[in-house]
Amino acid sequence: MAYTVYYGTLVHSVSLTELEIIKNGVLVVDNEKGVIVHVEKEVSDLDSFLSTTSFQDAKIEKLGSEQFLVPGFIDTHAHAPQYMFAGSGMDLQLLEWLESHVFPCESAFKDVEHASEAYTKVIERFLLNGTTTCSWFATIHLGACKKLVDIIEGLGQRAFIGKVNMDQNAPDYYIESTEASLDDTRAFIEYVQQKNNHLVTPVVTPRFAITCSTPLMKGLSQLANQYNVPIQTHLCENHDEIDFTCSLFKDSKDYTSIYDDHQLLNERSYMAHCVHMTDDEIKMLADRKTGIAHCANSNFSLHSGVCDVRRFLNQGVKVGLGTDVAGGFSASMLDAVRSTFFASKTVKIMHRDGPLKDKDYAPLSPAELLYLVTLGGADVLGLKDQIGNFEKNKAFDALWVDLENGSIDLMGGETMHQKVEKFLFNGSDQNLKHVYVQGRRVAGKA
Ligand code: GUN
Ligand code: FE
Repeated sequence: MAYTVYYGTLVHSVSLTELEIIKNGVLVVDNEKGVIVHVEKEVSDLDSFLSTTSFQDAKIEKLGSEQFLVPGFIDTHAHAPQYMFAGSGMDLQLLEWLESHVFPCESAFKDVEHASEAYTKVIERFLLNGTTTCSWFATIHLGACKKLVDIIEGLGQRAFIGKVNMDQNAPDYYIESTEASLDDTRAFIEYVQQKNNHLVTPVVTPRFAITCSTPLMKGLSQLANQYNVPIQTHLCENHDEIDFTCSLFKDSKDYTSIYDDHQLLNERSYMAHCVHMTDDEIKMLADRKTGIAHCANSNFSLHSGVCDVRRFLNQGVKVGLGTDVAGGFSASMLDAVRSTFFASKTVKIMHRDGPLKDKDYAPLSPAELLYLVTLGGADVLGLKDQIGNFEKNKAFDALWVDLENGSIDLMGGETMHQKVEKFLFNGSDQNLKHVYVQGRRVAGKA
């Protein structure tokens, strides 16, 4: 059959603050392209509606009364190899943790077979959790990076995938020369682009300024321009990191300027964390149209700090959410939503009881949280025209949520807004009956 018709409640974000709930919605997907070709609201009689359309022969999928479709979750920052040790080392802070946990774990991905096993587990887990799009950091190893791309292609996730670059201030067992780093990055970009699979995109991935020399960062900027690919890295995560970084690049005004001085900030770049930033640095991101990946679980777990994303939103900076596995211990974007909620409440408490002065500060609302985990992430990745909500001509990346079978108890009488909120706060992978990417079912409980 050429089309599939989904009939039931549709929930999606229209803007940062507007959550739209469509009752008796009809969403038609072109099965070959995996694209939404029609959305109709308030259809009381499906058969008579369909009889007026060219979708009469479509496959019909009716959602139950306690079920709804929501756009797939978008994780704008995660480290695929680090899933191996997620949930350990959480007593440490960033720089100690990189030495004791991250670098030893990542260096083992030199072995492609080891990488293959680990990467299969992490991608399967993320899909089960409803992460239909993810921006991944891999490791420095070309072979394992290619393997990650192959695994992601096979499992059907939409992904940005980065070969990590590091040519300085790294242990001698996990470092590359500047030349090898640039050559392997070029080879990796070409490997992904030659596949001609629009679900997988290579992303230039300098780990962070500490581990990247000036020639490396300049070369990476040139590669990103030459191949027209996005750029991801870490920025202003933790005080010790910021001090060390600024001591290495004394010619730059601040940490954000280091990346700017190396031509790494543009409308296709996005920066993870951005916890400790001056107003000037935030303005620089806004001016360059560079987005941020807000990784609240990681910012708490590595006690890096509390990022006030409202400051970025108010300045017009694009904001998405990231698990930052394994700085964040959870692979679930529902957890990212909850950590983001706590971070924004913490900022509120700091405004009311602490050193910050804005008494009118508004914590993030449930509608804003849903935006950040869907459309906001799409915006950060430059995919707002393709995914993030249920608009005609966008890809069908969606979660079929079932409130009755899973980790939620309904008491009866909840409004749809309350049910969506319950899903965000009490839901889990157990509530995801089907997970779709580009119209294809890639995971789910059913
Ligand atoms: N900064 C540089 N590398 C990393 C990493 O792997 N995780 C986190 N959270 N921050 C980093
Ligand atoms: Fe990270």
